[in-house]
Amino acid sequence: MFAATPLTGNKPDQYAQLAEQARGLLHGERDRVANAANLSALIYHSLPDLNWVGFYFYDGIELVVGPFQGLPACVRIPLGKGVCGAAAATRLTQRVIDVDAFPGHIACDAASRAELVVPLEDAQGRLVGVLDLDSPSVGRFDAEDQAGLEDLARIFQESLG
Ligand code: SME
Repeated sequence: MFAATPLTGNKPDQYAQLAEQARGLLHGERDRVANAANLSALIYHSLPDLNWVGFYFYDGIELVVGPFQGLPACVRIPLGKGVCGAAAATRLTQRVIDVDAFPGHIACDAASRAELVVPLEDAQGRLVGVLDLDSPSVGRFDAEDQAGLEDLARIFQESLG
């Protein structure tokens, strides 16, 4: 059974604790769906003020929704479209303060106001997909959140071997 330990200290400390929990949770398992499901659940239940956390995987043509927590979401996102498609196309994390000001933002859940999307690449630099977090609060994600989530995305990628 997984026992969630409350995160303490400042934000970098909290992300260090979350990273430790993620390493423990994914340890010894290389299945992509299993690890994406457990990591999205861990993040969703550990961090405050989120309404969607999950994965989109690249199928060679576009992004297809994978394991997530939150309301049902758009299934397919073309590269370059929306925040997720921008992260996948540029291979750069997209940290959006206010999604209403992001041209082409795809509104899956009308409650979403801020978004953080981290691209996922394999060891050869090939696009794997993205890790997407949505919040109902404008400006929810700062640079420390971005660093913490990029670390968690790395842990996920490394767990796949
Ligand atoms: N808002 C995203 C779409 C995915 S959902 O937020 C789950 C985007 O613009 O790419």
